[in-house]
Amino acid sequence: MKHLDISEAISKAELRGQTVVVCGWVRTFRDSANVAFLELSDGSSFRKLQVVIDKANLTVESACTATGAAVAVRGTLAQAYKGEGNEINAQTIQLLGKCPAEFPIQKKRTTLEFLRTIPHLRLRTNTFQAVFRVRSVAAQAIHRYFHAHGFYYVNTPLITASDCEGAGEMFRVTTRPWNDSAKSEEEYYKSDFFGVKAGLSVSGQLEGEVAAMALGKIYTFGPSFRAENSNTTRHLAEFWHIEPEVAFAELPDVIELAEDLLKYLIKAVMAECPEELKFFDSFVEKGLLEKLTHVANSDFAVCTYTEAIKILEEKNSQFEFPVHWGSDLQSEHEKYLTEKVFGRPVFVTDYPKEIKSFYMKQNADGKTVAATDLLVPGIGEIIGGSEREADYEKLVAAMDARKMDKSAYKQYLDLRKFGSVPHGGFGLGFERFVMYVTGMENIRDVTLFPRSVKNIM
Ligand code: 4AD
Ligand code: MG
Repeated sequence: MKHLDISEAISKAELRGQTVVVCGWVRTFRDSANVAFLELSDGSSFRKLQVVIDKANLTVESACTATGAAVAVRGTLAQAYKGEGNEINAQTIQLLGKCPAEFPIQKKRTTLEFLRTIPHLRLRTNTFQAVFRVRSVAAQAIHRYFHAHGFYYVNTPLITASDCEGAGEMFRVTTRPWNDSAKSEEEYYKSDFFGVKAGLSVSGQLEGEVAAMALGKIYTFGPSFRAENSNTTRHLAEFWHIEPEVAFAELPDVIELAEDLLKYLIKAVMAECPEELKFFDSFVEKGLLEKLTHVANSDFAVCTYTEAIKILEEKNSQFEFPVHWGSDLQSEHEKYLTEKVFGRPVFVTDYPKEIKSFYMKQNADGKTVAATDLLVPGIGEIIGGSEREADYEKLVAAMDARKMDKSAYKQYLDLRKFGSVPHGGFGLGFERFVMYVTGMENIRDVTLFPRSVKNIM
């Protein structure tokens, strides 16, 4: 259909006086004695186009004014009577798709909980339009950042035989029928599609390291899958994961890259989505713009796990889970550190080796590994990364200590045999980033069709 995007119809002053066709969905209808107004959205712009109907010259059938109805409007663009940009004086309004009154997105504000029950329609609200516009802009900015900094984009497999984090939270990939009974696990998988146990990847890191050991600087940006049973506001069973991996890099380099990337992304979203962020600042998180401006322009904090535990131990009485050296940080501790102690993003480094993955570089103290988590106010962990263990013997020892099956990691170990170098990287959860820049508090509200425990709508 020949038509003009509403973004252009609104913004282009040079089109005033011209007759154009725009298409969109009716958001609101206001009627008065001589004129009536439709607000039209086609997704191209966060702002809606005001359609002015001069009732003396144009009779509009009621189906065209119903909330949610799809229409094509032919008319003349003119400077908006109120506010900036253009409006359109309608000559004809053609119904493209009617929308009966049972359409659940009506003018009154609906709750996010209710909207979660209609994921296929909630995108037609201002909130979700803004979220998904920001999400798209952020995704483009991620590719731009890495391309500009000499990183190659690689695509790692989604189906894998190795569990990267070694945490046993993989979804299984199988073609065997449900009622099949086998005598042993091995026998069962032998007759399965791949002949071995296979699953959906929890991270592209291990294959990312393979690529970095040849291409130098790489990143992946794709889905990761976690079958963890955590029904929280920040966990999904399927999320998008940005994982850079860099050769000839140590932990401070990893931290520098993470901070630089995050600041770049925040600035990009602020520059490209000013209307959306203004909306979030007014209706979702008061002070969001100030927060983002501050974060983009100041240094993140850095603190070791050991220092963090000392700080937290003094407040143990107020935590549900009191901490001691060796305990994993829970969300309440992460939030306390970043919100109350530092008041800004903080990299926590050098965790006890027992609570981190086998592949992390072992520090000289024999107790900690060169890991880092970036914690941010409102969310907690947004990035997890580390320098990797580059020494063959030490890596084997870490795998043995965890009773891992080394035969499944032959390729990974080979990287430590053939020209091993210091290297590292991190994983940034894309949805958590989108939550952070929009102020949305539930990860299900920044994902088109969120998948979580008992939820696959
Ligand atoms: O800390 P994680 O588990 O680290 C890794 O997977 C490493 N292999 C990354 C690397 O070094 N290349 O996950 C990294 C990030 C987390 O900080 C979080 O932002 C996000 O991925 N994440 C999730 N996001 C949504 N739902 C989940 N279930 C997530 N699990 C992790
Ligand atoms: Mg983590």
